[in-house]
Amino acid sequence: MPSKRSATPTLTLGIDFGTSNSAAALIGPDGQMHTIALDGARSEMPTALFFVSETHSVLYGSEAMQAYLAGTEGRLLRSLKSLLGSRLMDEYTAVNGQSIQFFDIVVLFFKELKRRCEAQIGQPLTRAMLGRPVHFVDDDAERDALAQETLGRAAREAGFTDIAFQLEPIAAALDFEQRVDRETTALVVDIGGGTSDFTVIRLNPARSAVGDRSADILATTGVHIGGTDFDRLLDLSTVMPLLGYKHIGTGGRPVPNSVFFDLCTWHLIHQAYTRKAMHFAKELWTDYADRNLHTRLMDALEGQHGHRMLAGVEAAKIACSISGNDALVDLDFLGHGPSEHLGATVTVPAMAETLQQALSQVVQCAQLCVQRSGLASVDAVYLTGGSSALRPLVEALRAAMPQATLVEGNRFGGVAAGLAVGGAAWGN
Ligand SMILES: Nc1ncnc2c1ncn2[C@@H]1O[C@H](COP(=O)(O)OP(=O)(O)OP(=O)(O)O)[C@@H](O)[C@H]1O
Ligand SMILES: [Mg+2]
Repeated sequence: MPSKRSATPTLTLGIDFGTSNSAAALIGPDGQMHTIALDGARSEMPTALFFVSETHSVLYGSEAMQAYLAGTEGRLLRSLKSLLGSRLMDEYTAVNGQSIQFFDIVVLFFKELKRRCEAQIGQPLTRAMLGRPVHFVDDDAERDALAQETLGRAAREAGFTDIAFQLEPIAAALDFEQRVDRETTALVVDIGGGTSDFTVIRLNPARSAVGDRSADILATTGVHIGGTDFDRLLDLSTVMPLLGYKHIGTGGRPVPNSVFFDLCTWHLIHQAYTRKAMHFAKELWTDYADRNLHTRLMDALEGQHGHRMLAGVEAAKIACSISGNDALVDLDFLGHGPSEHLGATVTVPAMAETLQQALSQVVQCAQLCVQRSGLASVDAVYLTGGSSALRPLVEALRAAMPQATLVEGNRFGGVAAGLAVGGAAWGN
């Protein structure tokens, strides 16, 4: 860590650049954990940017989400992490009257995050411990390496000069370790917006200051499935049929479906609004037997309501998961007859059914991690990441590992805190 002689010690900022939310923390010169209030008083900040057309300004985090949802004219970007490792990262997109690469949008986000952290800590921060999922991209080592390289390059371009990476589930484990009081074997389950990551690790608070913990890490696994996939699947099953998805149209064939997939995927929504895609969608009217459905589709595209629909589905997923009751997705903003009330409903059983396949892949990945660790069982299953609260998922994990104690963790700040712990030990 920092040289004792320097007046302002070099601190290492732990940065959890998440698909849905980002967070940052560091261990201060006092040896205490400092969680940065990144978004007002909150430590987690939606990984979102909004480019305001009128003023050509850029809003970040919850301000970005609020501006979009309030109908401010402009362009919302979310789930940028899902683009890492893909060719889209180098593509240009139109915002505020200019063409900008998706990569530069990630740089803008990092610059803002750095600015907010520095304002709070009161000194420049140039050393960063960045989190990364076990797999940015499944089954493609080259693209996976490219994703990490791109993330590091974006952080460098934003002004971080010393960068190291830590696997997100290991960071989450290091945070959990601060709260265990004896040697514990744990399966750490980090289910976020984009990925589900697992590690089986031997935890012992006496070893938490040790830089190299590889001897304690018994296995890691990960799969590119997370909350944004659950949103997509739920959007497809509840809202998109109201716009014609799976509608059997003229000629007894379903309406072509690519437009619905773009509209339901956080990082691809913009593709549904290109001139070419809009033209294609307009021409679809001949395929529809029920023209009302086509009118709604065009309303959704012309009003650029993709994020609004998906945010409604996400909110309903969360509400339903927390309360166990049905939750409504309000779609009244789509043009319709004066007496028509348009909405969709998310229920626990429908959620369990729609997400069954995705959830069983997540559970299998968790089981594979335990298998690879060589342990017959673990003492604790530590749950972190926003999607670890998803009701059917918790039930499926409990059923798969009946012998372990389920510990609900620091759902949104754990990875950043663990990166700060790892950052302080970096070089030890
Ligand atoms: N109570 C809840 N029940 C179900 N899902 C939830 C709940 N609260 C939040 N989520 C989901 O959690 C996800 C965000 O979690 P988190 O902030 O941990 O992800 P992230 O760190 O940004 O993503 P990743 O680690 O995959 O890059 C979102 O998909 C959100 O919809
Ligand atoms: Mg995460």
